[in-house]
Amino acid sequence: MTRRLAEPARQTGVRTEPGEQERKRKRMKPTRARIASMGCYVPERILTNADLEKMVDTSDEWIRSRTGIRERRLVPPGTPTSEIATLAARQALERAHVSASEVDLIIVATITPDMIFPATACLLQQKLQATHAWGFDVSAACSGFVYALTVGAQFVVSGAHKKVLVIGADVMSAITDYTDRATCILFGDGAGAALLEPSDDDTGILDWYAEVDGAAAQLIKMPAGGSAMPPTHETIDKKLHHIRQDGGPVFKYATRKMAEAPKLLLERNGLGVSDLDLFVAHQANARIIDAAVERLGIAPERAIKNIDRYGNTTAATIPLALGTALDERRLKKGDLVMLAAVGAGMTVGTTLLRWSFDPS
Ligand SMILES: CC(C)(COP(=O)(O)OP(=O)(O)OC[C@H]1O[C@@H](n2cnc3c(N)ncnc32)[C@H](O)[C@@H]1OP(=O)(O)O)[C@@H](O)C(=O)NCCC(=O)NCCS
Repeated sequence: MTRRLAEPARQTGVRTEPGEQERKRKRMKPTRARIASMGCYVPERILTNADLEKMVDTSDEWIRSRTGIRERRLVPPGTPTSEIATLAARQALERAHVSASEVDLIIVATITPDMIFPATACLLQQKLQATHAWGFDVSAACSGFVYALTVGAQFVVSGAHKKVLVIGADVMSAITDYTDRATCILFGDGAGAALLEPSDDDTGILDWYAEVDGAAAQLIKMPAGGSAMPPTHETIDKKLHHIRQDGGPVFKYATRKMAEAPKLLLERNGLGVSDLDLFVAHQANARIIDAAVERLGIAPERAIKNIDRYGNTTAATIPLALGTALDERRLKKGDLVMLAAVGAGMTVGTTLLRWSFDPS
């Protein structure tokens, strides 16, 4: 009886009842989703600290000592987020030998969508020619990729989808005020993509933990352009379509949460910091990462840092950091990895996963 139910109805001639089909679907549900491949893209143009010295009252020494950033990458003006997201997504698909038409769902994490609507995921679907995919955007700022990964994994674990593209991409140069020395030194442009598939071994996403704190929503934001403050000449003159942040409180919030949230996630899985092979934190400021590493008590060499090269690319930092870990051969199949991000909202996102493939 069990065998007959497991066989496709068209071969046996047995019509399965709706209840049987549901049971069959549940039996086939994967226990977890895994990242099957990654793709990364950063633009060629480099904006160095020396370049910024010519634009605002700052110095290479100040930027390096306060943030750890040496340079960041910028797209040519007018380049939309969907363009760099497409390049990262294509690389992830090519590396997995998966064609775009096989993709079921596209989730784009971004705070710099091409337009407020339609969603960048729709534009990406067209650019990739992912003809069978649906999709949507996730707005969680620097936690965006981790949130999108969590959402995407649910569709794989439910058995609904087999191939989900999760992309973190931001063209921060489009919303950065290059006359404001407190913000323009921090941000860069970039994109990273992960292809999620059902896991057939003990690797994949093990657990996640997320928080939002709307009471801290004013700490970092783009004030105008939404329904609360539609665009006017005045909003443009006052530069309200750019990032505004209260750097000090954001710094303290991020430092605290970047350690607290991973600890909580480890504890509820019966694991300790010493079990972690790699800590992949959002790259906002090297000092935030260093402080989180110290508070967590993880060995510094287990933390990925590439902020010196790319600055803060918002939703792209975590996939770009995973890309760096793979390039530097610091990540291999079976490694226990913690992703941790804090961003505007305030949003906090963490993912605990057992890595699923070796670097090529
Ligand atoms: C923005 C940030 C780098 C500022 O560093 P900081 O050590 O907190 O510096 P402060 O804001 O206290 O400013 C100290 C002084 O440096 C000055 N300063 C700010 N930016 C400067 C720059 N680029 N160059 C030189 N001086 C600068 C300030 O005007 C201030 O001068 P003052 O003492 O005369 O008023 C830091 O707060 C930060 O990284 N915050 C988190 C930002 C973030 O992560 N945002 C993304 C969300 S995840």
